[in-house]
Amino acid sequence: MKGVILAGGTGTRLYPLTRLINKHLLPVGSHPMVCYGIERLRQAGITEVLMVIGKQSSGLYTNFLGSGENFGVKLTYRVQESAGGIAEALELADGFIHPGEKFVVLLGDNLFLDDLTPYAEKFRLQPAGTARVLLKPVKDPRRYGVPVFHSDRPELIAYIEEKPKSPKSNYSVTGIYMYDSEVFGLIQGITRSARGELEITDVNNLYAADGKLEYDVLQLWWGDAGTFESLQEAAIHMKGVLP
Ligand code: DAU
Repeated sequence: MKGVILAGGTGTRLYPLTRLINKHLLPVGSHPMVCYGIERLRQAGITEVLMVIGKQSSGLYTNFLGSGENFGVKLTYRVQESAGGIAEALELADGFIHPGEKFVVLLGDNLFLDDLTPYAEKFRLQPAGTARVLLKPVKDPRRYGVPVFHSDRPELIAYIEEKPKSPKSNYSVTGIYMYDSEVFGLIQGITRSARGELEITDVNNLYAADGKLEYDVLQLWWGDAGTFESLQEAAIHMKGVLP
């Protein structure tokens, strides 16, 4: 299985810091944010990894991460020209992921303590053309994609609401997604949202509508480090994860 880390986007919630440097290179403890996602993939035996980066700080990524050799992985890079959404960034993995291949996608600002191995194993056993997402109970689901479960098949997600005002569950859909190459055909079928982005929730809802979206719930701490508060919290939780 291959891995894809999405590290484009503008990081506006972390201005002015992210005017200087791309969000995923900001320090979380003693390492840049992006290192933790790479380590989670490596730990699950996923060593062929595509980094989707923006133009901002692109030279710093290759300076710091290089080929990936020092991090136990083999890195390929693609550049997203402008922040057109998570699904647009994911589309850049077409070609890196070959027909029929399964892969794990991480949003670069998602930090977590679970080992991905058991979840990736379950996904490996799923039929072709299905997907899997990882969930986490959260205090304020309104900040996230929120799943609504299938009434008669509780192992499936019926649909996801993106940042709902009145969430129908207390779970967040984390930025840990598992797909196969069929996802690229589905991305072709979605249109830009009101904010001008290709939304990953629209892609996941195509799977959900077909009864093809399974899930697991993360057992340990998870957070997205997209705000100053969550960035500080992440530094506390991720302490000691990397030497
Ligand atoms: O963190 C989990 C949440 O991430 C999910 O619950 C939501 O359903 C999902 O839409 C997403 O919400 P955010 O509003 O937090 O996404 P954000 O725009 O902050 O982007 C998250 C990451 O995705 C970011 O670290 C880099 C990557 N990204 C984002 C955009 C918009 C790209 O690579 N390219 C992009 O154009």
